Amino acid sequence: NEIYFEGLFGVLPSMPMTHAELEARARAALPAPVLSYVAGGAGDEFTQRANVSAFERWGLVPRMMVGADRRDMSVDLFGLRLPSPLFMAPVGVIGLCAQDGHGDLATARAARRTGVPMVASTLTVDPMEQVAAEFGDTPGFFQLYTPKDRALAESLVHRAEAAGFRGIVVTLDTWVTGWRPRDLAASNFPQLRGHCLANYTSDPVFRARLAKAPQEDPRAAVLEWVQVFGNPLTWDDLPWLRSLTDLPIILKGICHPEDVRRARDGGVDAVYCSNHGGRQANGGLAALDALPGVVAAADGLPVLFDSGVRSGADVVKALALGAAAVGVGRPYAYGLAVGGEDGIVHVLRSLLAEADLIMAVDGYPTLADLRTEGALHRN
Ligand code: FNR
Repeated sequence: NEIYFEGLFGVLPSMPMTHAELEARARAALPAPVLSYVAGGAGDEFTQRANVSAFERWGLVPRMMVGADRRDMSVDLFGLRLPSPLFMAPVGVIGLCAQDGHGDLATARAARRTGVPMVASTLTVDPMEQVAAEFGDTPGFFQLYTPKDRALAESLVHRAEAAGFRGIVVTLDTWVTGWRPRDLAASNFPQLRGHCLANYTSDPVFRARLAKAPQEDPRAAVLEWVQVFGNPLTWDDLPWLRSLTDLPIILKGICHPEDVRRARDGGVDAVYCSNHGGRQANGGLAALDALPGVVAAADGLPVLFDSGVRSGADVVKALALGAAAVGVGRPYAYGLAVGGEDGIVHVLRSLLAEADLIMAVDGYPTLADLRTEGALHRN
């Protein structure tokens, strides 16, 4: 309504109103290596495209005369009351999408303004404590890339607790970087030429591994980071992971029902169905197509979802397929590139407004209504 009313007085929106336009403007705004890193995916990016097109195979079946003038999108998750089921997925090195290089802080401020939680990556450009300080009343989550050094992993988790994060998202699908032709062509050394070390160089356990302070010998710090970066965890590591914290633990990258059952047995608080936005393996399975099987196996355990969400309609469809909360990655990164903190707020509010209007027009006023039999049709 805000936009239409402004139009009455001849004021046109300065922000893009479709994902396609958002992406086009981000392409123009971002330096080439950053654009390759954010927009790119694994292999020929078939999986990345499949993530998006999978949403076209589902349609919401409209219901009428249900009193949808009052809608409620709020969710209870991990004992937290959230105004909506939308969240910002962890995007490493997102700081560089902002002109001043501090995009993590801008993202955290957008979370504060919208109530949409940010999952801060291990690979933030500013240290996690500074990011968390910007959250205000909006809960934030810390995404852990589990390093090989267990003491370092423990230190990162305990710092996240102390900084006030409300849960730990453990990403399982990226202990090694996938085959990403755009990054390879740009020689984008993971992660983007070493701009991802803040949480390491500010960590006492990491610093103890270095002969010299990171500012004295940055090259040695990067090489050390490469050594410790990724631990290919096994299910045998789950009790250790669980023992690290009383905060909710969410396992990210879970697409197979059997993995859901193992996660449940290991006492995690949620699973997160995602294929990393098609960035890791060009395996071909759209994350959305894995979601129903994950939800069925989860048997009531909350399932978070991301990969390919580009509109409010997509958010609604993922919810109708059983996601407890829905994340976006590239859309808010592009919002940051195009309009800074305001750009992110615009992207999030647009997604929520479109989702809300669909729930109104199609007659599904609550998330519980979306999950009733017959709400979705597979085209
Ligand atoms: C990511 N993603 C990601 N995931 C994670 O667990 N830790 C990370 O540091 C990153 N870094 C990252 C960087 C960039 C540039 C992108 C685009 C993505 C994956 C992210 O959390 C999410 O799974 C996908 O972005 C979801 O897909 P869409 O919304 O981008 O299609």
